[in-house]
Amino acid sequence: MSTTRTFPPGFLWGSATAAYQIEGAVAEGGRGPSIWDTFSHTPGRTSGGDTGDVADDHYHHWREDVAQMKALGLRAYRFSISWPRVQPGGSGEFNAEGIAFYSGLVDALIDAGIEPVATLYHWDLPQELEDAGGWANRETAHRFAAYAERMAAELGSRVSVWTTFNEPWCAAYLGYACGVHAPGRTNGADALAAVHHLNLAHGLAGRAIRRVLGAQAKVSITLNLHVNRPDDPGSAADVDAARRIDAIGNRIFLGPLLDGAYPEDLLADTAHVTDWSFVRAGDLETIRIPLDVLGVNYYSTGRVRRLAGARDGAALPSAWVGADDVEFLEQPGPYTATGWNIDPGGLTELLASLHATYPDQPLMITENGAAFDDVVGPDGEIHDDCRVAYLHDHLEALGVALDEGVDVRGYFVWSLLDNFEWNSGYSKRFGIIRVDYDTQERTWKDSARWYRELIRSGALPTTA
Ligand code: FCB
Repeated sequence: MSTTRTFPPGFLWGSATAAYQIEGAVAEGGRGPSIWDTFSHTPGRTSGGDTGDVADDHYHHWREDVAQMKALGLRAYRFSISWPRVQPGGSGEFNAEGIAFYSGLVDALIDAGIEPVATLYHWDLPQELEDAGGWANRETAHRFAAYAERMAAELGSRVSVWTTFNEPWCAAYLGYACGVHAPGRTNGADALAAVHHLNLAHGLAGRAIRRVLGAQAKVSITLNLHVNRPDDPGSAADVDAARRIDAIGNRIFLGPLLDGAYPEDLLADTAHVTDWSFVRAGDLETIRIPLDVLGVNYYSTGRVRRLAGARDGAALPSAWVGADDVEFLEQPGPYTATGWNIDPGGLTELLASLHATYPDQPLMITENGAAFDDVVGPDGEIHDDCRVAYLHDHLEALGVALDEGVDVRGYFVWSLLDNFEWNSGYSKRFGIIRVDYDTQERTWKDSARWYRELIRSGALPTTA
């Protein structure tokens, strides 16, 4: 294949990480415990009992990591701020040492010519707030806004884009409905309350950031929007199954964030789970703020149908609250090491459909990438051709969306470094840079060299 697709000038080429996945140093520098410390230290919750205690030890290696980013030619770096590192209990006292860590990182990025794109919440809620009810408790939204306001004051206009949340879908449903992520709770009504309080917290925080920094502050949120197709497009039941999943997975966020309302069909679908009385007068006005850019994370697609027969009583609670009668079917391959199907066309489809509904909304791919079982060759090299092909094909799919007029401003590879992949622990490697967890040595995979060349040339190079 030889393609020479080019990208618009100013297209933001970046890479992404998250605090708990890379930092380690969980008990250093005044950091308080988060729900992920508690969860990962609970037996049986993560693969191999892995925890983020050390991870990539980025807390001590950050200067070297910024040097790696500079060598890659990254134009932007998307990182997350650990709330319990800067405010150990999630309310009250802030921790100067924690704030200084992020301030130093931001300065170093700017010195290296890299735009800091900061996420305020990538799932590491201070444990004290979880003990008070977590995201099912409305008060957490107000605590989050106070934290956001303080970070805006501290880091100010040095941060290019302020992302309030990463994937609130995961925080709410994986954390509170099916319990495979921290805090590991399994209550559908709590999960829906958590969704609303995350949405509310976004609006409160975005307003607080603009209050501190003025209208020029760029505010964003990153969603993992789901492309779920009906198994049989001719079946009304399957089409309805896809509609329900779209409502509970996508429109439950897009509706309040961009349209100022929860969709009627969502409220009807979930009426047997909750009466939605946690939505108070004024909340929907608070949530809807202009988004300078909407972050989209994309990995794979799904296929659904109406469940034939009863749901298996022994099955884990579903992440898809109120949609117990929807069945997810195995997708055709190829697959990555996480078992996710590779379907670049889904990215074009997702971007086109977002653009059709919200034509004036700028978009950014804030995560895309793949875990593969990387092999270190005898020469110490990692020839991760599968990852290069994955990235190539998804960028080609993004390019098709650009051709169709979709306003996509940038692309961030997940991830810069191999890291702690949540409940999969260290068993899944997503990095374009390998991390040896015994020595903390960083080694560029072929995909890192490939990405550097792509950024340098702005043209999608030949892969085969
Ligand atoms: C996303 C998360 C990110 C990482 C990738 C693989 O859902 O935002 O932290 O785990 O998946």
